[in-house]
Amino acid sequence: MNESQRLIAEARRVAENSYSPYSHFRVGAVVVAADGSEYTGCNIENAAYGASICAEANAITTAAANGVREIHTVAVTCLDGEGCTPCGNCRQIMREFGVKRVILTDESGAPVEYELDELLPMSFGPEDLER
Ligand code: THU
Repeated sequence: MNESQRLIAEARRVAENSYSPYSHFRVGAVVVAADGSEYTGCNIENAAYGASICAEANAITTAAANGVREIHTVAVTCLDGEGCTPCGNCRQIMREFGVKRVILTDESGAPVEYELDELLPMSFGPEDLER
């Protein structure tokens, strides 16, 4: 098992903890910080739908709450569909912490790697507020 496969397997494991009684769409994410530490998250829905939290946001904010400020990789997968791609809001949350590599899965569950730049071109980030 290579590193991408290991991260996706871990994302699948944490997706089992998804709280998704409304969509029944279980998502898991793993963050790899620049120092190599890893953090996980799954989607947590809410009866007030807009208060729901995506798996990626959960994993990234957990990493940030543990002091992480630089993230290298985010791996994401879901258990109930043929792969999923991060929503626009989560792509922007990734951008804040310098994510370079995003590992998703194809229809067969195999890892497929993307650069965040591909998923969020011409993005706005922290440097744009520096003057
Ligand atoms: N969801 C995620 O957690 N991450 C994604 O990349 C796509 C969508 C969640 C949000 C919601 O709980 C459910 O999947 C259906 O949209």
